[in-house]
Amino acid sequence: MVAPLKVGIAGLGTVGAEVVRLIEQQGAALAARSGRGVRVVAVTARSKKKRGLDLRGVDWAESPQALAEDSNVDCFVELMGGADDPAFSAIETALKAGKSVVTANKALIAKHGLRLAKAAEQHGSALNYEAAVGAAIPVIKTLREGLSGTSVNRVYGILNGTCNYILTRMEHEGLSFEECLKDAQRLGYAEANPSFDVDGHDTAQKLAILASLAFGTKVAQTAVYVEGISSITPEDLRAAEELGYRVKLLGVAVRTAKGIEQRVHPTMVPKSSSIAQVMGVTNAVTIDGEGIPPITLVGPGAGGAATASAVVADIADVARGIRATPFGRPVDSLRATTKAPMERHEGGYYIRLLARDHAGTAATIATRLAEQKISLESIVQRHRNDGDVNGSAKKASPVPVILITYATSEDAVHRALKAVQRDRVISGRPQVIRIEKN
Ligand SMILES: NC(=O)c1ccc[n+]([C@@H]2O[C@H](COP(=O)([O-])OP(=O)(O)OC[C@H]3O[C@@H](n4cnc5c(N)ncnc54)[C@H](OP(=O)(O)O)[C@@H]3O)[C@@H](O)[C@H]2O)c1
Repeated sequence: MVAPLKVGIAGLGTVGAEVVRLIEQQGAALAARSGRGVRVVAVTARSKKKRGLDLRGVDWAESPQALAEDSNVDCFVELMGGADDPAFSAIETALKAGKSVVTANKALIAKHGLRLAKAAEQHGSALNYEAAVGAAIPVIKTLREGLSGTSVNRVYGILNGTCNYILTRMEHEGLSFEECLKDAQRLGYAEANPSFDVDGHDTAQKLAILASLAFGTKVAQTAVYVEGISSITPEDLRAAEELGYRVKLLGVAVRTAKGIEQRVHPTMVPKSSSIAQVMGVTNAVTIDGEGIPPITLVGPGAGGAATASAVVADIADVARGIRATPFGRPVDSLRATTKAPMERHEGGYYIRLLARDHAGTAATIATRLAEQKISLESIVQRHRNDGDVNGSAKKASPVPVILITYATSEDAVHRALKAVQRDRVISGRPQVIRIEKN
């Protein structure tokens, strides 16, 4: 009879408390599946407040560091959050002591993942972090183990529930970004300071981790181009709908002839694609592998129970004795990656302009695009509603013109739009959204 795996948990908040409950509830099933029992032997948090957990017979460690050093703990579970200490030092200590580590901390893995993976390799420990990306969606395991025989060409996804919730409400109800953000904050889907989510940085951290697993590159958040969703308007979402697209905040990592491109930005995706069906706070990741049709994983990307499900699965792997290399291959073999210059990005573009109502405006825009060899897949010109209630004409207001281009370079789009602005045939700044085809 193998002795149970003795687990120490640092952090008893939304996720940690659910992990304690799930291990309790799933005890028999976990033992059957892992061939070994799993027992929480010690915990720690900032305060000893009541949490509705049955912690009889469980030790209280004075600090995360003390828990990491506890010789009675086999597996150290970090659920405190934060990219640095105390999480970082405690995890490093646990790994160096030969303990396996499970964490849900994307910020820490994005920043210190390589150093910690090296420590795990050197000490024969596991470093599992399934819940760090897409919570309950088993995307780390899919890339690291399930697809280890497949060459991945592209991985992309909706990795932030807050942004997808906002875009879904904007699309369905015609509301502005600001109105939907306020609602998301009221409902607890967005932080009081929402910048980390809506400006794309949360997605970038997760994408950097997925890119490393997919392409064997070093995790580097600084190599990700990042743009958030605050410039998206209900008008863009209406136009996307009419043209057969939806707008999503995507994290995209793709193999190109010039290297691995990692980018986070609002993206038009065909309405027929799997990723376009993903609404509200749900997350999804699509993986394009060589010779196989795309695989899309969809599920809850946050929440105590959903995140705990992935954390406990990681603990079960430790109990089974599985020691997967944290990034799918030895840290020393991971290649450095740099930020791909977006001017060189190639793809289709959505462009929304406010065209001045002058004779020759359409011809000028067409000429500037043609000079940059940009061909158009579609063009939509909105009718100007310039009559008052009695039908008399007001001063002509600009007319929205929406263009969808065939694949071209970002550089060419910028040059064409600069020329159009110099020609003074449009007012305001053009809106440009990249298109991702499936
Ligand atoms: N919540 C989600 O939906 C979700 C989804 C995916 C991943 N994650 C990740 O899971 C981790 C935990 O998130 P959470 O939502 O559970 O956070 P949380 O509710 O804020 O809980 C954090 C826990 O850590 C404890 N803690 C914080 N600093 C500490 C310190 N210096 N020493 C000891 N204990 C400390 C807190 O103690 P007190 O309770 O005493 O304050 C609390 O119990 C984070 O890395 C997060 O990114 C969360």
